[in-house]
Amino acid sequence: MTTHPVTQAAMSSFASASDPRLAQVMTLLVKHLHAFVTESKLTKEEWMKGLEFLTQSAAITDSERNEFSLLSDILGISSIVDVVSQPVGGTSSSVLGPFHSHDSRLQPNGIDLTGDQAGDRTWLHGCVLDQQGQAIENAEIDFWQNADNGLYPAQDSAQDPHNLRCKIKCEADGSFNLLTIRPHPYTVPTDGPVGALLAASQRSIWRPAHYHLIVSAPGYIGLVTELFPQNSEYIDNDTVFGVREGLIVPFVKSSNTEIAQRYGLDHPFYEVRFDFKLVKQA
Ligand SMILES: [Fe+2]
Repeated sequence: MTTHPVTQAAMSSFASASDPRLAQVMTLLVKHLHAFVTESKLTKEEWMKGLEFLTQSAAITDSERNEFSLLSDILGISSIVDVVSQPVGGTSSSVLGPFHSHDSRLQPNGIDLTGDQAGDRTWLHGCVLDQQGQAIENAEIDFWQNADNGLYPAQDSAQDPHNLRCKIKCEADGSFNLLTIRPHPYTVPTDGPVGALLAASQRSIWRPAHYHLIVSAPGYIGLVTELFPQNSEYIDNDTVFGVREGLIVPFVKSSNTEIAQRYGLDHPFYEVRFDFKLVKQA
């Protein structure tokens, strides 16, 4: 199909940007947006509706909540950006999600995060390794998840802001472990324009249960990822498309007496083992 002169002119208008990457990205963005309008034969009314959608998204976006980030998630853009920017050879990355906090406390390796809260006790452990399977020294884990009621502290004033999240410095052999609870599926926020779009599209609003982790070490590319319990509800229908096959893990029922004694557990608990592989920085 011949490129319309308007499309050609709009693409060319970015060609002389001083930053060559800006020129490339904007030219391609215009090319594909114009193709979308052309192929769908978008009407003026539909375009105005789209602009109104973006205006409503802006109106409810602030420092605590970003409707555009959610829109990016439910369109699969966050996930596909994650996929194309992932270094080859390491553990799969996944989406960061909206509930990461930069002020998590550094806790000793082996920390018990559970206290007296409800939830199935789960011992999470593993190693941080390089691509050859050798332990990485000075690795750090940043961990967060939702509580037994499905909510993160930012959504639930009854929770301590630091509930079920921490940073851990791994041992010299790359190992780490902590006691937490089994995570739960939860819904994305539905009280804004994105929620209305999901409803109009008859789409699921659910994410499968998951742990969030950021794994880092000096000299290695940081890894933002998630771990999903095998058989979690919605594992095949994550509304933000964050599930990767290699990140689905078995939650094994364990009666390991040493671990049970260490944490005072008087009943079987779940055990999850996962080794993270990091890729060296160029
Ligand atoms: Fe999450």
